[in-house]
Amino acid sequence: MARRVLQRSRPSTGGKRLRPLLVYLCAPEAGRTGDGVLLAGAAVELIHSATLVHDDVLDRAQLRRGRPTVWARDGELVATATGDYLFARAFTILAETGDMAAVSELAECTLGLARGEAMQVEQARQPGTTLEAYLERCGLKTGLLFATAAALGGRLGGLGEEALSHLRAYGHALGLAFQIADDVLDCAGSIESTGKPLGTDLLDGTTTYPLLVAASLDPVVARAVELGPERDHVLEVLARVADTGAIARSRVLAHAYARQANEALDELEDDLDTQPLRAVALGVVDREV
Ligand code: FPP
Ligand code: MG
Repeated sequence: MARRVLQRSRPSTGGKRLRPLLVYLCAPEAGRTGDGVLLAGAAVELIHSATLVHDDVLDRAQLRRGRPTVWARDGELVATATGDYLFARAFTILAETGDMAAVSELAECTLGLARGEAMQVEQARQPGTTLEAYLERCGLKTGLLFATAAALGGRLGGLGEEALSHLRAYGHALGLAFQIADDVLDCAGSIESTGKPLGTDLLDGTTTYPLLVAASLDPVVARAVELGPERDHVLEVLARVADTGAIARSRVLAHAYARQANEALDELEDDLDTQPLRAVALGVVDREV
């Protein structure tokens, strides 16, 4: 089931719903029956949607999931207010669980998301951004919501603190694998499958791992990351990125994080059926969506 969700093709516009899937799969079967897991799944998906609506304002993005973004269709004020609404709604829904620790974990997580996004702005157009700085940013902007989704599933499904810390480790590594794969898709995917134009990171100056590796090996790419390529030259620069081997190296790193995620699951064999979560880790790195 997990793999099928990840392979679902466009033009579905609801997204992969990967984070609520994690909430569900990280709750032991016996703990999935109450409303808690359902409410937590809805809350994390709403936070994810809020961040995308706000991210599209910051990126001035025209397309998301193959459709005009709220920003492109309705402007900045409506998009900001829409993201705010989704963000607030997530918390009212999670509060219905009555689980203060769960609400607190999601609140901490959203602080981290905002810090990660701020770091991305700081690191923009800086081809010398280190791998450590990139990973710290991705851990905050992506890994943390995956870790939180996993922990909320476990918590509301009745698992104890030790299991929750392994679930967070799984989610964090999975989030890094996901983000690196996402950054590869921006350089080497297709708009038909991702629903987003190719080369957006290059145009925006977002310093992703494939662009950083390529910039360290090819001065033309480094200049394009720093100054922004001419719109007509984006595909040419992306071809140079691939020629450096940066795409292949990024895939290797994404797979290493997927393996790290699955190693964290080794500690959870007595608590959960880990097989579907292992399939998710493989699915996030081998996806076209
Ligand atoms: C998408 O990643 C964006 C994020 C993972 C995080 C965005 C976070 C914020 C806007 C700040 C926090 C906001 C709230 C509501 C707490 P990406 O830009 O790498 O992917 P993309 O190519 O799909 O845009
Ligand atoms: Mg973006």
